[in-house]
Amino acid sequence: MEKNGFFRFRLLFLSAFSLLFLCLEMFFSSQVEAAHQTDFENALKIQSIRAEGFMMANISLPEGLPGSVVASPSRMSPNYFYHWTRDSALTMMTVLAIHDRSSDQEKKHRLRQILKDYVLFSRKTQEAQGPVGGPGEVRFNLDGSSDYSDWARPQNDGAALRALILTRFANVLLSLGEQEFVLNHIYRPYLPAYTVAKVDLEYVAHHCMEPSYDAWEELFGQHFFHRILQRRALLEGAVLADSLNDPLAAQFYRRQARALEPEINAHYDTDRGYLVATLFESGGIMHKNLHLDSVVILGALVAQGADDFYSVTDDRVLATVFELMRTFKELYPINASGDGIAIGRYPEDHYDGVHSGRVGNPWFLTTHAFAELFHRAANNFTEKGEITISKVNLKFFQTLGIDVRSESLPLKLSANSKEFDQIVNELRIQGDGFFKRSLRHMNQESGVMSEQLNRDTGIMQGARDLTWSYASFIDAYLSRPQANTR
Ligand code: NOJ
Ligand code: NOJ
Repeated sequence: MEKNGFFRFRLLFLSAFSLLFLCLEMFFSSQVEAAHQTDFENALKIQSIRAEGFMMANISLPEGLPGSVVASPSRMSPNYFYHWTRDSALTMMTVLAIHDRSSDQEKKHRLRQILKDYVLFSRKTQEAQGPVGGPGEVRFNLDGSSDYSDWARPQNDGAALRALILTRFANVLLSLGEQEFVLNHIYRPYLPAYTVAKVDLEYVAHHCMEPSYDAWEELFGQHFFHRILQRRALLEGAVLADSLNDPLAAQFYRRQARALEPEINAHYDTDRGYLVATLFESGGIMHKNLHLDSVVILGALVAQGADDFYSVTDDRVLATVFELMRTFKELYPINASGDGIAIGRYPEDHYDGVHSGRVGNPWFLTTHAFAELFHRAANNFTEKGEITISKVNLKFFQTLGIDVRSESLPLKLSANSKEFDQIVNELRIQGDGFFKRSLRHMNQESGVMSEQLNRDTGIMQGARDLTWSYASFIDAYLSRPQANTR
């Protein structure tokens, strides 16, 4: 009896002890995990501050006119010491995003001044003589004169991007009562146009059906990226035109935007199951077989606006994200270890950052775009409170660990379901994976980033200090809910 009691006591003691041990272990491992998460959050925050500094350092260099943006300070191998219309417009979108988030009035004023300088510099570039001249021209010296080197021209995404950022900037200025600057430099309802956004919008409206070179400056044809941006620029431009008493222009811009929609829809290839980047290719470097390209994701991110047209949660966009991730994961040896997938431009890429005809690599800016897409998708779903899994996006959701049978599709998940939470959570985790990848390959001491990272070694290569690498990091950073406390 007594012996029995002793055994029972021992058993009880042992199980209590192991339970305690288990709890302690769980407590400490969650502490370790929390510490890792804090380290990661800090690293991101620090990098976002550094990236802002590096990006700003490439704007209005002492060697250039105010408002010029150098793509990279590298003047040799490669020479990126130019103001590209595309890179600078994207950079200014980031500057405006920082402006909008900031509550520091002095800083906001400074950022608006930079944007105004950019407006005036842009006008100079629009007026410059050049190989093609006008808004289809590609890149400029820092004094505003055209670059005459043998290059892929025209590229028609630049005007759309610039119209979009300047339309948004005009709205900010109008809300502050600065109508004069808007009418004198950004949009005056007058033809022939001589204010920057009006010139760009007229150009976009008249030329959006024509082919041009792609954003990677290689392929001549019709591009998803260009078209989706042209559409958005025209729609937002139309709203501005209306508010500035230019109703006929507004009508014309809207009509052209609508005409682009079927053209954009034609980029979804049902057989391949993704959005093809280019249709009707007819010149340049024609080595793409798949036409699977991260530029489609960049387009969906930048062209996001009031409607849901190819938004970050569109099922065709998510299907494309899936194909790109799968492809790059296998293609780049560095993706075999470490967190997150390093993403490149497109699988057949042969540009190594200096020469073409070599081996292409992952890029920082495309990897950041994926981080941004995952977080913005999580934000979107949370706002809507609903996720629909369809035949088109099924594979994407499967990579998030969702197990659904195709017979039950389409399947609607609502905000209070277990699967919904799992998806949002996994989007955040995988989104952060792309950041971890970028943090791992940038300069560990300074946070400096170049254009590319070697696919075998992960070591940086290509243009050093690429402005777009920094701007894209900041954009992605701002898409995390935690950045609200910035
Ligand atoms: C330089 C361009 O900027 C780059 O995007 C392109 O891949 C190579 N030239 C190929 O010629
Ligand atoms: C090459 C990229 O392909 C192109 O998009 C970019 O404009 C230039 N480099 C300058 O950064």
